[in-house]
Amino acid sequence: MKKLFLSALAALLTLGARADGGMWFLQLMEEQHLADSLRAAGLQMKPKQLLALRDCVGQFGGGCTAEVISPDGLILTNNHCGYSYVHAMSTLETNYLQDGYFAKSRVEELPVPELTFSFVISVAEVTALVEDAAARSGTDEYVRQTHRFLQPLADSLLALSSYKGQAGMEAEVVPFYGGNRFYIFYTQTYPDVRLVVNPPLNVAQFGGDGDNWVWPRHNPDFAVFRVYADAKGRPAAYDPANVPLRRKHYLPISLRGYEEGDYTMIMGFPGRTSRYLSAAQLEREMQAIYTPINAVGVPLLEWEREQMERSDSVRLAMQDDHMMLQNTVKNFGGALEAVRRTGLVEQKRVQDEALTQYALRKGDAELAGVVDKIGRLLNTAMLDTIHDFMLYRRTLSLDSARRAVTLPLWEKLCRLPSSKAVTAATSKEEADSVMRTYYAAYARTTKAEVVLSRTYQRGIMDMNGWSTAPDANFTQRLTYGHVRGYSPRDAVRYDFKTQLGGMFEKESVTDPDYAVNPRVRQLYVARDFGRYATSDGLMQTDFLTDNDITGGNSGSPVLNARGELIGVAFDGNIESLSSDFKYNPQLQRCINADIRYVLWTIDTFGGSGYLLRELELRP
Ligand code: ARG
Repeated sequence: MKKLFLSALAALLTLGARADGGMWFLQLMEEQHLADSLRAAGLQMKPKQLLALRDCVGQFGGGCTAEVISPDGLILTNNHCGYSYVHAMSTLETNYLQDGYFAKSRVEELPVPELTFSFVISVAEVTALVEDAAARSGTDEYVRQTHRFLQPLADSLLALSSYKGQAGMEAEVVPFYGGNRFYIFYTQTYPDVRLVVNPPLNVAQFGGDGDNWVWPRHNPDFAVFRVYADAKGRPAAYDPANVPLRRKHYLPISLRGYEEGDYTMIMGFPGRTSRYLSAAQLEREMQAIYTPINAVGVPLLEWEREQMERSDSVRLAMQDDHMMLQNTVKNFGGALEAVRRTGLVEQKRVQDEALTQYALRKGDAELAGVVDKIGRLLNTAMLDTIHDFMLYRRTLSLDSARRAVTLPLWEKLCRLPSSKAVTAATSKEEADSVMRTYYAAYARTTKAEVVLSRTYQRGIMDMNGWSTAPDANFTQRLTYGHVRGYSPRDAVRYDFKTQLGGMFEKESVTDPDYAVNPRVRQLYVARDFGRYATSDGLMQTDFLTDNDITGGNSGSPVLNARGELIGVAFDGNIESLSSDFKYNPQLQRCINADIRYVLWTIDTFGGSGYLLRELELRP
């Protein structure tokens, strides 16, 4: 009895300590006592076994995640991750993006230009080595965190390693915790990746921009590819003679479903978070970066929409960029709103004060002054300068037609009187030379800030005993949590799951984003769900978990307590778009497509049943 109580207490304490979410870096598993938290949360495998997962989850096309789901190199990711590639392969006559693509046998799997898939081969800490090399060469704190300093170091370590000369092997040294630690990543990249299944747009992206970042959701945002290699399994450029890559580790699939409260975990490659900013830095992000980029984006989207209505060929040409811009603008708008609504700047001020008090208690003068120094660096005048510089960069990086749409905004949006001259500039060169002083100020600030940030982060980590996860930086991470609905506002409560019937509730005859695919309708009316139906005969579509993810995680596997695949992560909810700055357990949710919905779309809807034979399906 006593023992039970104690372990319950320990669980409570650990859960409490972990309530800040976290994109955990498995390299720190022991140091951060992650195993205890995983077990307390409900993991039913040995935490050490999680390391084998590393071999099943790779980076797709540089910016997304995909997972290996068969011994023959089949990989699953999001439709929106394959989007640009499939878009580039599509014409008005053969439109794989709009109409979808379902291979019916391996010979129909299509080569995808430029697409790569990378596995992480090994990871090691190299902090001492980096600091040593920097000290010996007198490299300052800013430069030592840059690619130009770190890449030669990584290359020389690769040359000394046993991986030297192996096809597709690369090494990269990446800063963690604001440059307080460094790790080397050895990766292997496969350049022959083929398209296997891509659902039609009105299925994969049902709900379009309106539903994007929003719950409840009904689309299966997924696509299937296959990694090919030479006969010896080595990375090789596309060649018809290449064969499917054989893999020892791949994810088994559970058809059993899940309930609210069940343990879930997601492994993937989250891109960027900034969880260790001071209040002044967060204000800078919101005022000087998110605000101008969003302000320019809104009229641009409007203009693009008008252009796209002119003809199908213009629509196809612009479709990819347009969707990306829609996604960013909605994201940034949502983040501005969420930061405001949750009072995040105020929360950061409390953290700043706690850090200063901690530093004073320890007699650490450098740390005690850091909040103040960052605040003075990012004063109002500097924020205005950065704001106008970002506005300028955003506006003048555009092609001339788009620039013409955004330039009239200048008068209204720019904050410093001296910025107004940009509107009068007749050429990009002329505008650049207005802006040169801004750039110099921006670069100076960035350099000074990197040094202060490192001290700030070191302080926060010392204060919390190095117990929180590092910021995302496109390296492989694990987040664990549970299946969980949420309450977005007073009196409103969201269920954790949706079913196909909901798609018909949203259906519109006027808005093409909400047009139901005719074959989906036919199968729905016939209730043709086969073995993919839930026990009450429904087709479960999407579900929510409180896992902590961000852009880059798109396509990541959602796994149950036994490490079986139950879904694919594809979005976040708009109420928590401040999550890149702070995890909010009440609001932050991850939106996932149910694996049974994915398989139904592949098999029953699309007729790519030959793939089912190579999967490990568990009842
Ligand atoms: N919000 C998703 C992300 O950033 C992308 C969703 C793509 N779908 C869309 N309709 N724009 O990962």
